[in-house]
Amino acid sequence: MNLSKKTSGALTLKSSVGPYDIQIGRGLICRAGEFFNLNRRVVIVTDEGVPKEYAEAVLKAAKCGTVITLPEGEGTKSFKYLELLLTKMLEFGLTRTDCAVAVGGGVIGDLTGFAAASYMRGIDFYNVPTTLLSQVDSSVGGKCAINLSGAKNTVGAFYQPKSVICDLDTLKTLDKRLVSEGLAEALKMALTSDEELFSIFENEEIGDAVLEKIVARSLKIKLDVVCNDEKESGIRKILNFGHTFGHGIEAESFGKLYHGECVALGMIPMISRDLRSRLINVLKKLDLPTKVDIDTEKALSHVINDKKADGDKISAIFVDKIGKYEIRKMKITDFCDHIRNNV
Ligand code: GLY
Repeated sequence: MNLSKKTSGALTLKSSVGPYDIQIGRGLICRAGEFFNLNRRVVIVTDEGVPKEYAEAVLKAAKCGTVITLPEGEGTKSFKYLELLLTKMLEFGLTRTDCAVAVGGGVIGDLTGFAAASYMRGIDFYNVPTTLLSQVDSSVGGKCAINLSGAKNTVGAFYQPKSVICDLDTLKTLDKRLVSEGLAEALKMALTSDEELFSIFENEEIGDAVLEKIVARSLKIKLDVVCNDEKESGIRKILNFGHTFGHGIEAESFGKLYHGECVALGMIPMISRDLRSRLINVLKKLDLPTKVDIDTEKALSHVINDKKADGDKISAIFVDKIGKYEIRKMKITDFCDHIRNNV
C-alpha cells in the first residue's frame, strides 16, 4: 500500500478494500455530487451543532435523500443512537446498494461509519468532516466506533469511507475552542513525524492560509501511516501519541474538556523533559490547556481499561526529538509510574 498525491487538492489513501480520495479545498460541500455517487438513496447524518446548510447542500445533490439530525456531543456515540440511526435507515428503505453520508465532527463520522459498516453487512459510506479535529484525523483511516459504559470507542470496526471531502470553509464558523482542539491532533502528528510542521506551529501566525497548510500536511502524515498499517499492528500506534493518558483525563473530566484538549495534556508527560517547555509554549499559543485539576490516580484508573492494552502491557509512544517517535511496549503499571513521575 502506498500514498499517491492526485492533484494539489486531493490525496488518495490506498486501503485494503481499495483506494479512496480525500478532497481538500474550499467550497467543496456544494460540489458533493461530483465526488460522491449520490445517484441513489442517501441517508445524510448530521447533528444539531452543525450548520444546517452543509447537510442541505449534500441533500440537494442526492437523487433521493433524507437528513437525520442527532443531538450534539459524545453521548450520541452510543447504542441508543446507533439503534435509532439504523432504524431510520431501514424506515427510509435504504438497500445494500445505497449509501450514508456523515456531515459533522468525529462523533457523527464515527457513529455513521459504524452504522454503515453494520447496516445490511455494509453499505457505502462517505464522510464530510466539518471540524478541524475530524478533518486532520478521524475522518480518514476507517476507524469508527461507539462508546460502551463510558469506555471510549469500545465497540467498532475498521470500515473505510468511499470518499472524503475536507471543506476548509467549514472552519470559518467553527468555535475557537474547537479549532484549538483540532490543532492539538495536528500538533500530535508534527511531534511524532514532522519537524517542519512543528516549526510552523512554533513560528507562524495561525491564519487561514497556515491552517490550510496544517490540514494538508497532517493529512499527508495520517495517510502515509494508515497506508502502511491500516489495522494498527505497528506504526499506526503513533497516532495514539498523547491519547492513553489523554483518554483517562477525558473520562475524568466528564465532558468539561474536549478530546483535543485532553490529548494536549496527555502529550506533555510523553515528551522528553528538555522539549517540554517548547511544547508548553506552543500549547499556550494555541489556547490549549497545559494543566488540569484532575486526580491523576482517577485518570490512570481508566488506562487499565484502554482497549489498546495487550494483557498487562501497553504500547506507549514517546517523543525524545521533534519529528521522531519511539514505540515502547511497557507494563501498564510502569506506564502509570511514568505518568506519576512526569505530571
Ligand atoms: N485517530 C487515530 C487513528 O486513526 O489511528
